Amino acid sequence: MENTNTYQGGENFSLSDLLIQTRRKTLKERTEFFSNYINEEIENKRVLYMRVIDSQADRKVSVIDPKTGKTKKMLMFGSNNYLGLANNPYIKESVKKSIEKYGIGIGGPPLLNGYTKLHYEVEEMLADFKKKESAMIFASGYGANVGLVTGLVNRDDIVLYDEYSHASLCDGIKMGRIESYKFRHNDVQDLENLLIKHRSVVKGEIFVCVEGVYSMDGDMAPLNEIAPLCKRYKASLIVDDAHGTGVTGETGGGTAQHFGVEDDVDIIMGTFSKALGMTGGFVAGDKCVTDYLRFFARSYMFSASLPPIIVAAVKAGLEAIIKHPEYVSQLRSNVNYAVAKLNENGFDIKTQTPIIALRVPAEMKIRDSVFKFHEMGIFLNSIEYPAVPISQQRFRISLMALHTKEDIDKLVEAVCEVWYGKKR
Ligand SMILES: Cc1ncc(COP(=O)(O)O)c(C=O)c1O
Repeated sequence: MENTNTYQGGENFSLSDLLIQTRRKTLKERTEFFSNYINEEIENKRVLYMRVIDSQADRKVSVIDPKTGKTKKMLMFGSNNYLGLANNPYIKESVKKSIEKYGIGIGGPPLLNGYTKLHYEVEEMLADFKKKESAMIFASGYGANVGLVTGLVNRDDIVLYDEYSHASLCDGIKMGRIESYKFRHNDVQDLENLLIKHRSVVKGEIFVCVEGVYSMDGDMAPLNEIAPLCKRYKASLIVDDAHGTGVTGETGGGTAQHFGVEDDVDIIMGTFSKALGMTGGFVAGDKCVTDYLRFFARSYMFSASLPPIIVAAVKAGLEAIIKHPEYVSQLRSNVNYAVAKLNENGFDIKTQTPIIALRVPAEMKIRDSVFKFHEMGIFLNSIEYPAVPISQQRFRISLMALHTKEDIDKLVEAVCEVWYGKKR
């Protein structure tokens, strides 16, 4: 293979096309091609991946500047720590106390090696929080999705899923060799067409999988329309509420709470890695579902339990969300403020969630722009080619409850500077 370090695929080329093109190459050719490309980009300081943070996760973070090697204070708009719980004093104190009682680890998966009373209590709390009979904890959100679909869906069933679903669901579908069909993003009519087509022929169960809040654009699934549709066609509804848990709904109960359909969602999956500021995942539903999954979800059965220090942080985080409804309302008012400010400045943002996507115009060089943000002390995420086609490149802003109005003003000023070359 020609040793070139630029992609040859045109503006719709993405990393998945690279995998197809290099399929028949040797291991060395295949990996060297990508490795040359990415390392040259990093060495020439053309990309800002894996910035090193040398401080606590807060609204301001200290970042080691890849160009100068010096520490730089930046406003953090690129973290899923939506409620700021990753550095919450009450939670940190609770974790310290848990070490005294439970130590730091557990030493294996729950079925054989047991789990702590803390794990049990958090499962009960999660079930209450999600208004379900039961909940179970997985070692990651990724593992929860993979375990959920590979564990529950059998060969007579099918899965209908939104085309923008997270990689963890898609990987579960692939691993389980599950018969599955995508519907267009948030297109309820397209979903109904699939339900009509498959209902009379499917021998087993139909599972419909959507996300409460979609992580790339921050839009919500219209659960008020999808839940009744699933009922009508006798399909089971699974909602991945990774980005909605602790964020959407009056008290942060999630996207089903936002739409008032908590009783009509069969299974809710979520993570501890976003609003709860930690790591880990969970599934909530009927007790018979979690009983079953404890034995059939292989990512649960064959993976060690989360350490009690993490579970203690999750427990304290849930307590904090319940005790301090102002965290969720502060986040919501920051979303409203940021959206209004951006729209005053010529944008057309409609999100109701803390994820704001700014689509990059064709003429803008996203690589140069992300460095401009970095130089102005604004840490945000750029979703770049070839991870996505050029037409879908965007900046993703993630808001936190901790941000002040002044922080958001600075963000909007920086966006205007990058977009229009001047402050508006
Ligand atoms: C929608 C969605 N589901 C699942 C996951 C996986 O969660 P975790 O990172 O906690 O493993 C993520 C994480 O990015 C996500 O955005």
